[in-house]
Amino acid sequence: MTAESSLEATQWHQVGSVADVSKKRKVVVEVDERQILVVAHEGRFFAFDNICIHRERELSKGVILNGKLVCPGHQWAFALDTGWEAVKEACQPTHEVRVDGDDVFVCVAPNPTSVS
Ligand code: FES
Repeated sequence: MTAESSLEATQWHQVGSVADVSKKRKVVVEVDERQILVVAHEGRFFAFDNICIHRERELSKGVILNGKLVCPGHQWAFALDTGWEAVKEACQPTHEVRVDGDDVFVCVAPNPTSVS
């Protein structure tokens, strides 16, 4: 294994099988004290930091509505694909998700395009 592939391997964390994550619809994994929420929606997977950037409520207790993940705290609505909250003009960190075989993996490092 090269240094590059080793680094890549450490950034990806197994979430579960495609069938299991799809059935549960929301799965939280904790990696290096960071909670990452993976959601299954309409056949796709998305991932966010689970702790809301506003007042630290858990997004895993929120709902998905009109293509947005709505926080249970104060109803900020984050776009599933970017984490962007259009009214507040703020961004919840997102993470890349990939499917490899029958398993779902999430990148531990935040997606650089979603960090404000
Ligand atoms: S804690 Fe999430 S919107 Fe306030």
